[in-house]
Amino acid sequence: MQDRLAPLYSQHLATLRERADKALALGNFDHLVIASGTPLRKFLDDQDYPFVANPHFRHWLPLNIPGSWIVYTPGHKPKLIFLQPKDYWHVVPAAPSGYWVEHFDIEIVRDATDAVALLPNANTRRAIIGPECPTVPGAEANNPQAVLDYLHWHRSYKTPYELELMREASRVGTRAHRAAEQAFRAGESEIGIHMAYLAAADQIDAELPYASIVALNEHGAVLHYTHFDRKAPAQSRSFLIDAGGSAAGYASDITRTYAAQGHAEFQALIDSVDVAQRGFAAKVRAGQSYPELHIHAHHVLAEVLREHGIIRMSAESAVSSGVTSAFFPHGLGHPIGLQVHDVAGFQASETGGTIARPQGHPYLRMTRVLEPGMVVTIEPGLYFIDMLLEEVRAKPVSSEIDWARVERLRPYGGIRIEDDVVCTDGEPENLTRDAFALIG
Ligand code: GLY
Ligand code: MN
Ligand code: MN
Repeated sequence: MQDRLAPLYSQHLATLRERADKALALGNFDHLVIASGTPLRKFLDDQDYPFVANPHFRHWLPLNIPGSWIVYTPGHKPKLIFLQPKDYWHVVPAAPSGYWVEHFDIEIVRDATDAVALLPNANTRRAIIGPECPTVPGAEANNPQAVLDYLHWHRSYKTPYELELMREASRVGTRAHRAAEQAFRAGESEIGIHMAYLAAADQIDAELPYASIVALNEHGAVLHYTHFDRKAPAQSRSFLIDAGGSAAGYASDITRTYAAQGHAEFQALIDSVDVAQRGFAAKVRAGQSYPELHIHAHHVLAEVLREHGIIRMSAESAVSSGVTSAFFPHGLGHPIGLQVHDVAGFQASETGGTIARPQGHPYLRMTRVLEPGMVVTIEPGLYFIDMLLEEVRAKPVSSEIDWARVERLRPYGGIRIEDDVVCTDGEPENLTRDAFALIG
C-alpha cells in the first residue's frame, strides 16, 4: 500500500499546490497557513475530547496530530511545523517518516507556542485556515471566504491518491460489516455486534469516521440510533448497521440491512430496496443532477411500496402527497471524502454561492451535478417510523395505505442500503460493493 501511494502522493501534492496557488491569488494572499488544530478540553476537566485534525491539514498530509502547521508559499517547497513535545505522560507523535517526508521542509517544535515564530511574519498576507477556537495567540485563523470557497469546491474532485485511500477505507468498513453480520446471526446484543465490528476494523471508536449505528429490530426506525443495548433481544428479527472505516483521514460510509432466517416478508422488501439502490448507484455518471436522482429515488421507492402492498395509490400520487417522504424521510446521499458529509455539496461554483434544495426535501445534502472525480453516497431507505406514520394516518391519503401490513413490518424498524460511489468518465466505481466482493 505505501509503495503504491508514494507516486500517487507526489501527484496529489502537485495538484494541491496548483489549487493553493489559485486560491491565494483569488484572495490576494501570499501564504497559505494550515493549522492542524488544538485538542478541545472538556469543561472543568484535564481531559481532551478525541482529537481530529483540520480536514485541510489532512488533505495535505496523512497525519492526525495536534499543534502542527503547514505553510505553503507559491513557488516554494511546503513547510511542516511538526509538534513533537517532550512528554512522558502521553505517546508523542513518532518522528516524521513515510512517502510524504521528502516533499516537505520539516521543523520540529517541542511546545505548541513555539510554532508561531516559525510562521510567515504577521505583516505578510496570510490566509490562515483552521478552527477558530481554541486559538493560538499570534496565529489566529482568518479563514478567508474566497480561499475556502475555492479549496472546498476543488476538494470535490478526488485525486487518484485520495481514491486509493477511499478504497482502503471501504475495505476496512466492509470487513468489519461482515464480522458484524456474523455477530448478528449468532444472536449477539447491539454492543456485542459493535465490539465485533471494532475488532474486525482494527479501529477504535475515535478512529471511525462517525458514530456507528447498530440497530436491532424496531431500533432500525431511529435514523441516528447511537445507543447500544447491552442485552440481546429475545428474538433478533432484523439488523440495520450504518458504520464506516477510515484510512489516513478518508472515510467510508456503509449501511446494510439484514433479516433473520425465516423472516421472508421483510427479506423480500430488503431485496427490492437493494435492486432499487443498485439502479441509483448505476446513475452516478457525469452530467447527472444529484437532486433529480433523489426525486427519481422517491418514484422508484413508491413502486417498491406498491409492489409490496404497503400502499395502493400510484407512485406519482405517493410522491406528490408526501407519502414517500414518510417512509423515506432523508436525502439520497451526500458527498464523502475527508469528512463523511464532505464540503461543497451545495456550492454553486468555485467562487461560492449555493444551489438550493428542491422544495419539500429539507434533508438532502447534495444539490450539484455529478462530475468525474466526485464521490457520493447512495443510501435510499424505507422505514416504519411511528411519528411520521401517525401524520400520514391523519390525512385523507390514509385510506391508500395498508395499515395491517405496516403493523406487520413495524417490528423490523427499517431498511437502508448505502454505498460510496465514484463518478468517473464512464461507468461508476462502487467502492463499497467492490470491497465486499473482495471478501467474497
Ligand atoms: N452515517 C451517516 C450517513 O449515512 O450520512
Ligand atoms: Mn451517508
Ligand atoms: Mn451512513
